Amino acid sequence: MFAPNQILKTAAPDFLKDLDLTDDELLYLLDLAAEVKACPADYAHALDGKNLGMLFEKPSLRTKLTFELAMKQMGGGSVFLEGPIGVREPLKDVARNLDRWVNGLVARVFLQSTVDGLAEWSRVPVINALSDLYHPCQALADIQTIRERFGGASLHGLKLTFIGDGNNVAQSLMLTGLRLGMDFALGCPEGYLPDPEIVIQAEGLAAVSGARLLITHDTAAAVAGAHAVYTDVWASMGQEQEAVERRRAFRNYQVNDALFAQARPDAVFMHCLPAKRDEEVTDSIMEHPRSVVFDQAENRLHAQKALLLMMLT
Ligand code: CP
Ligand code: NVA
Repeated sequence: MFAPNQILKTAAPDFLKDLDLTDDELLYLLDLAAEVKACPADYAHALDGKNLGMLFEKPSLRTKLTFELAMKQMGGGSVFLEGPIGVREPLKDVARNLDRWVNGLVARVFLQSTVDGLAEWSRVPVINALSDLYHPCQALADIQTIRERFGGASLHGLKLTFIGDGNNVAQSLMLTGLRLGMDFALGCPEGYLPDPEIVIQAEGLAAVSGARLLITHDTAAAVAGAHAVYTDVWASMGQEQEAVERRRAFRNYQVNDALFAQARPDAVFMHCLPAKRDEEVTDSIMEHPRSVVFDQAENRLHAQKALLLMMLT
């Protein structure tokens, strides 16, 4: 079904945000990710001779290692550099150096404008590995995980609830979940709502797919009927100086036994990781039999392999 030499190429030159893939491309990617996971050896030479350049302004465990392994396991290679982009020399020069050496770029950045700028100046595809606005590679792995858990290709009728900060991870999940027909609820404190422009986009996607969007300060309303309850750190990378004030603002937004019990009895717990136990989530929920956090981490590898196949071949 997915002969390695006949993979569908994305129409978009880059993957800078979730909506860069069409609905059809996204569904194809998810099917390809499942196939790559089931039969990794079939893709062992799919990226022979290709190299990925990775520029990270922030630390990473999962993203860095899964991109490196994805390239290696498909016959390619990668080079990695951590540090600020566009300080030692202009971003437009960085992009035009890298694109002479590698077949694709992956960038983890503070500002979305940095990854957008790399794409503007680079002749090779650029993939967003997390910015202030989005974490689109995470959303791919998360949807793969939800599909595996709740069986079947269709996500219509499932409800994904995010508790906590209306941050990059929440914004990517909201866009990706709603366009695939999943109901999406966000339970977050006042002052930590998602970006208003992204909410408008999300409402538009929900209107098309028929999914429901709920943004509320009421965690019980958010988790009621949820198939998946998701959370993320209260202070993202770069917000460490706000940690004390955020701990106060988010104290009633912890995913704990009492809150998780209000979701469906078969609900799964999700977290992009790294997690801060006893802040956004208790140890009991991280270690819960229905916690799928390590499935999500595993699927980063498979979903990103599918993405690389669709962008670099
Ligand atoms: N979830 C995630 O992106 O993890 P890293 O920050 O370790 O890459
Ligand atoms: N929202 C978190 C996600 C980490 C993977 C951050 O940006 O730090």
